Amino acid sequence: MKQIAVITGASSGLGKEFVRLLQNERDVQEIWLIARSKDKLDAIARQDPHRLKTVVLDCSVHGNIEKLGEMLKAAHVSVRYLVNSAGYGKFGSFCDLSAEQSRNMIDLNVSGVVEMCLTCIPYMHRGSHILNIASLASTVPLPYLNIYAATKAFVRHYSRALHVELRDRGISVTAVCPGWMDTGFIANAQTGAKKSPTVFAAITKPDGVAKKALRDAKIGKDLSVYGVFPQLTYAAAKILPQKFLMENWLRMQKYR
Ligand SMILES: NC(=O)c1ccc[n+]([C@@H]2O[C@H](COP(=O)([O-])OP(=O)(O)OC[C@H]3O[C@@H](n4cnc5c(N)ncnc54)[C@H](OP(=O)(O)O)[C@@H]3O)[C@@H](O)[C@H]2O)c1
Repeated sequence: MKQIAVITGASSGLGKEFVRLLQNERDVQEIWLIARSKDKLDAIARQDPHRLKTVVLDCSVHGNIEKLGEMLKAAHVSVRYLVNSAGYGKFGSFCDLSAEQSRNMIDLNVSGVVEMCLTCIPYMHRGSHILNIASLASTVPLPYLNIYAATKAFVRHYSRALHVELRDRGISVTAVCPGWMDTGFIANAQTGAKKSPTVFAAITKPDGVAKKALRDAKIGKDLSVYGVFPQLTYAAAKILPQKFLMENWLRMQKYR
């Protein structure tokens, strides 16, 4: 049975970095790259056409991931790694976003992640790993990044509980919680809203995040936080009152 990795959000940023890293894994014979941008996926796949396979899919549309399930079934594969990196945020208050924008963020960041896990788990065996990309934003409610932060809190909780549920089957689930990363995310999050973050503290490249996440997954950790600032923030969020942390966020972004 061919051993594969499945990566959503593979056309850009952190997902693309996971494609690069997993190409070095000897037990991964093929990598399935998922995103909506065919051109970007094709350009990446051209680097290694025998191992990189593209699947153009909008993971936010209900039912689309079923098609991936059918492809997995037909291909007789074992999923060694599932990386759910597809996701986005939108800056602004509840009224700066349309109902459709708010719902779509939930469809992709929450429902898409759950559906991908449920679709791939039947094809995963002992020693397989799921990496779900949450965020440091999952640790505290964030006014003016409200829905995004809430979706990432879901991903973190869901992943850690799923890790326990899958322990007996020898499959690890890691919630990856990056701080700000220099990817397409920030430009894509802009809505022109008055209250948009302008301070991207300790922004980092995605390569370190991906490397640590993969290391953490391999040793069976259910959580991966890269960098000193995110680790301190994560620790603070465990002990400080959430109201204080929300005020701190508002002050940091000069919303107060
Ligand atoms: N950058 C940050 O500051 C930061 C911080 C913490 C967490 N994160 C999380 O990290 C993950 C990766 O984001 P990134 O920073 O790498 O941003 P990015 O460069 O914008 O990458 C996002 C990826 O998701 C894909 N995508 C978006 N909508 C999709 C959809 N409906 N269906 C399938 N694929 C879709 C995009 O490809 P297409 O457009 O081609 O579909 C792209 O490959 C996200 O879950 C994000 O929430 C980012």
